[in-house]
Amino acid sequence: MKLKIALLAGDGIGPEVTDQAVKVCNSIAKKFNHEILWIPALTGAVAIEQTGDPYPEETHQVCINSDAVLFGAIGHPRFDNDPSASVRPEQGLLKMRKKLGLFANIRPTFTFSSLIENSPLKKDRIEGTDLVFLRELTGGIYFGERGRKDNGNTAFDTCTYTRSEIQRLAKKGFELAMNRSKKLCCVDKANVLESSRLWRETVQDMEKDFPEVEVTYEFVDAVAMRLVQWPSSYDVLITENLFGDILTDEASVISGSMGLMPSASVGTDICLYEPIHGSFPQATGKDIANPLATILSAAMMFEMSFNLKEEGALIRKVVDESLVEGIVTEDLVREGGRKYKTSEIGDHLANKIF
Ligand code: IPM
Ligand code: MN
Repeated sequence: MKLKIALLAGDGIGPEVTDQAVKVCNSIAKKFNHEILWIPALTGAVAIEQTGDPYPEETHQVCINSDAVLFGAIGHPRFDNDPSASVRPEQGLLKMRKKLGLFANIRPTFTFSSLIENSPLKKDRIEGTDLVFLRELTGGIYFGERGRKDNGNTAFDTCTYTRSEIQRLAKKGFELAMNRSKKLCCVDKANVLESSRLWRETVQDMEKDFPEVEVTYEFVDAVAMRLVQWPSSYDVLITENLFGDILTDEASVISGSMGLMPSASVGTDICLYEPIHGSFPQATGKDIANPLATILSAAMMFEMSFNLKEEGALIRKVVDESLVEGIVTEDLVREGGRKYKTSEIGDHLANKIF
């Protein structure tokens, strides 16, 4: 099979971690006789430096002319510490999500039995956790009207949702639940927010179309608590953009490291795969970042964009095995263990595959 993949490495550790995913994918391609054409394109702070735009039109063209997008990370401290900056790397990510119509962000949270001791949470709480968040990605407060008034002394951001935006996300949630344990949790703040009441009303209306799915409605503050108390009680969770952003960072703690959790963003056409972690500026260029989240995102890409299940499964298998062997970066190393470099992890996995 010929696969044309846009490679948006981005900022910080983005290039280092995507390099390892490329090694792994190329090794898979060799083993299964696929041909991968990687098309690099600029995004984030590097794109601002070179073009003035964090998601230039040229990059957008590369994406829409590819079969899938593999994404690293975006963000640079230079912008974080300057609230007056008018162009920011993160705007590139939001623009890209919107322009590519990526309205659903699929973020699984699971544990690796070999890493169960790495989690700061107690083993009996997290064992067996296998849940998936479906985070709405192109609406809500991220995209609502915002601004300043009263000579800059008052600021506002608005959270807006339409019924159809909620329906298309919820539909994916119901479908996913049907393929899993038929349990769906709708996370909102319907006791306070009008937009959440529309979420609840819309999802309630859809229940009749999926009579087998058992739907629960929970407030986001309660979910934040129960997620670390009894994560294995959840299966599929659907939620709006900002709640999903926050809860998925929280959930990543369950697995033992943020550097482990992959994600897929799906929508109307092309899909994008990216680790849930950020650009980790402190680690940039040091060859210490954990590339597994990106490598596991590539596994999701094989499965979801190309329906190449065996390829995805092999990536997961070698990742599992290497974790058991203790071939891990410093975020996961335990007493007496050796710290492996980012590039060593990529080489090791690529060699294991072919
Ligand atoms: C994420 C990130 C982004 C978000 C930032 C970088 C804009 O935190 O993908 O979760 O908030 O969506
Ligand atoms: Mn986030």
